[in-house]
Amino acid sequence: MRICLISKLWVLVAVILLSSLQCLDGAPVGSKTYIIHMEKNATHLDVDAKHAWYTELMDGAKAFLAADHPDDGMDSLHHVYHHVFDGFSARLTAEQVAYMESLPCVMAVYPDRVHKSQTTHSSEFVGLSRENAHLWPESNYGADSIIGVIDTGIWPERLSFNDHGLGHIPKRWKGSCQAGTNFTAANCNKKIIGAKYFYKGYETQYGKIVDGVDENILSPRDSLGHGTHCASTAAGRWARRASYKGLARGTAVGMAPKARIAVYKALWGSKGRGMTSDLVAAFDHAVADGVDVISYSVGSEVGPDGILDFFDGREAEVIAAFNAVKKGVFVSVAGGNEGPTPGSIANNAPWYTTVAATTQDREEQQNVLLGNGEILIGRFGYAASKTGLRQVTNAPLIYAGHAAINGLSAENASFCQAEALDASLLAGKIVVCNYDRTPRFSGHLGAAGVIYVLNPYWGETLQIIEATAIPFTQLGSNARLPILAYIASTSKPTATILPAKTVYGTTPAPKVAGFSSRGPIRYARGQWLKPDIAAPGVDILAAGVKNNQYAFMSGTSMACPHVSGFGALLHSMHPKWSPAAIRSALMTTATTLDNTNHTITAQETSSTASPWDFGAGFAQPEKAMNPGLVYDMGRDDYLHFLCGLGYNSTEIKLIDRDGYTCPSNPPARVEDANFPSFVAHFGDAAALSLVDTSVSFFRTLTNVGSAGRTYKATVDVQPKGFYISVEPSTLEFSRAGSKQSFTLTVTPRGAATLPEVALGSFSHGSGSVTWSDSEHVVRSPVVVMVGEVISRTSVN
Ligand SMILES: *[C@@H]1O[C@H](CO)[C@@H](O)[C@H](O)[C@H]1NC(C)=O
Ligand SMILES: *[C@@H]1O[C@H](CO)[C@@H](O)[C@H](O)[C@H]1NC(C)=O
Ligand SMILES: *[C@@H]1O[C@H](CO)[C@@H](O)[C@H](O)[C@H]1NC(C)=O
Ligand SMILES: *[C@@H]1O[C@H](CO)[C@@H](O)[C@H](O)[C@H]1NC(C)=O
Ligand SMILES: *[C@@H]1O[C@H](CO)[C@@H](O)[C@H](O)[C@H]1NC(C)=O
Repeated sequence: MRICLISKLWVLVAVILLSSLQCLDGAPVGSKTYIIHMEKNATHLDVDAKHAWYTELMDGAKAFLAADHPDDGMDSLHHVYHHVFDGFSARLTAEQVAYMESLPCVMAVYPDRVHKSQTTHSSEFVGLSRENAHLWPESNYGADSIIGVIDTGIWPERLSFNDHGLGHIPKRWKGSCQAGTNFTAANCNKKIIGAKYFYKGYETQYGKIVDGVDENILSPRDSLGHGTHCASTAAGRWARRASYKGLARGTAVGMAPKARIAVYKALWGSKGRGMTSDLVAAFDHAVADGVDVISYSVGSEVGPDGILDFFDGREAEVIAAFNAVKKGVFVSVAGGNEGPTPGSIANNAPWYTTVAATTQDREEQQNVLLGNGEILIGRFGYAASKTGLRQVTNAPLIYAGHAAINGLSAENASFCQAEALDASLLAGKIVVCNYDRTPRFSGHLGAAGVIYVLNPYWGETLQIIEATAIPFTQLGSNARLPILAYIASTSKPTATILPAKTVYGTTPAPKVAGFSSRGPIRYARGQWLKPDIAAPGVDILAAGVKNNQYAFMSGTSMACPHVSGFGALLHSMHPKWSPAAIRSALMTTATTLDNTNHTITAQETSSTASPWDFGAGFAQPEKAMNPGLVYDMGRDDYLHFLCGLGYNSTEIKLIDRDGYTCPSNPPARVEDANFPSFVAHFGDAAALSLVDTSVSFFRTLTNVGSAGRTYKATVDVQPKGFYISVEPSTLEFSRAGSKQSFTLTVTPRGAATLPEVALGSFSHGSGSVTWSDSEHVVRSPVVVMVGEVISRTSVN
């Protein structure tokens, strides 16, 4: 074993180097937060031993301080990581980083990175309410499961978090309630059983957190609303009479109404941002405290383009999540709001359950009545306003493109760019603004109301529009021609923005939300199916903060806690199931059909969506409770998979501190990872005409139903141009818990004709295979890919 010695000589050399650098430019030495990932040290049995040792290492690093900046970088330790890996975070100068990296006991040093909540904006459209469709009565569903919500905190006084009638807190719970501004231990109860906050990394990046500034409260209390919304979606209790000023009475309830909530606040400021170092601390505490599920509606600020791989050596939260999953925690994550661009999917680690967002069969409409009596269906847009709902009736209507300042761009004006608009033409009118990929509306300029008309890029996709001070609504791009034709048809066009209303039974539903990020995985060393599953994430009504009892929000952030709640229910029903078994149960019982019995469509095009949009399909938790068979995976399966992807032992040791030896004979194959989905990747389109290539997959099914079941495989849909076969096609499961294996093979039939996708030179198609006895239907998507998405090397 290597001994971690601090070399005095190295220190001396570096100090000399450092001072000469100082002489050159005279600039102060900057410092940032870093995560120092340490080798496992068998003598460190508890967190105190680690803390003492890491403090010693930091003392060694002191030698690298600039004499004129005695405090710089010596902010001591921020967080010590104990459960999800060994290491700590601290502010370091570049020279201190080099020093840390030189120590043999340091495996890696990661610069801290910015993360953000996965709603593009939280529109607090209070006052609209609905009967929240829920699948289970308030039975014991979810009781004794603990959901850790890593987010912006919680507003504990909401009805959703009352603990009336809840039993004792599970004995294994080790968490606590950390007090802070406007939050005391008394804010925890038998529903919110723990609350902690992590902010040292955030302060290094964005400056000291000051109460009341930039929406901050230094405590687990949520002032943004994101965490409160997610927690109540996952595990909110019945909140009856969710209504606003007598409008639309309904009941809001979370997915697992009796599950316990543990709050880990690590996102701050009005933008809901957080740093990796704080998020990893949140994971570490959640695992130590004993959560069963982690709900992680957080993405990376860099976006998919900046990430080279799901684990490119810097994503420490991916390591944290692996170790959580290894310990049996189900980790549900948001897939991102960068859709509908192909290849935009985020949070792709194979141990995550990555969630896409869909619409529901309930729509919040805010329609436009034109002066000629025609009604255009709009999506709701009223801002939350202290004065309540307002209406603009029979107001003159003007197209912003006709209100350009003389000589300035009519096109710019059409997007309601304030600089281009002649305000005198807008006073008292409803202005029609184009809505481009990036909204350019900048100020209302005295208009009485705004109608945004989405451009074809967005199609009929609801946009999350920042609440303005005046009433507004939005129309899909299909309404563009009718509204412009009406304006042209009369010298005095008028319109009314009708009051918002809730419409039930919309068809088709669900649709994949336009904003929901799409597969395939970009820049990774290989392909596996992401997202895994889809759940509602458009116009979700859940608990709000401050004066808002309820709020509407949209985003994959809202879809994720649905699946977290499902995970809690399944964990309560089947405490012995692994996180992978829970994911498998949700995936193999998901539906790919909408309420018109057609394949689920994509909101932006209204055409058929694919597994790269919705994963295995729309989650049906009631079916997932009794899936019959599961594709299980554990620690070794994931590490074996990483071997197949080409990760070496050094990299794998970063993920699992115990290390893993990749097999050499036979070597690990990516295709054989026991996922409930299949991705047949034919790299080269030209080679496909040779036909001889086929891709085979080895899978093992575990019987989680009763003894003595016989399952038969059916290929429901053959991907166009390919042939799927399954061998053997009958499996006997003599006992509960028994395992059986099969091989699935995908063979090209000839020249494949797959739809092209605007991403690299890649095309795809899909089919599905189902195992069934008389009672259960265990369905898996089979995706066929031809060509390269984007090669790793082309990014560098
Ligand atoms: C383990 O930690 C102790 C101090 O707690 C230190 O003296 C020792 O060098 C470390 N061992 C390794 C292998 O890093
Ligand atoms: C704390 O609560 C008080 C009383 O409700 C309120 O006035 C104050 O603004 C709150 N502080 C913050 C930072 O929100
Ligand atoms: C339109 O607006 C953009 C800024 O969004 C500006 O760069 C451009 O010059 C404007 N075009 C005209 C013709 O004014
Ligand atoms: C969809 O199909 C199922 C079974 O095939 C049937 O019971 C149901 O009525 C159909 N629904 C619609 C809307 O056609
Ligand atoms: C493992 O991979 C990393 C990154 O590709 C590389 O830097 C390192 O040298 C490799 N280690 C071994 C033992 O092959």
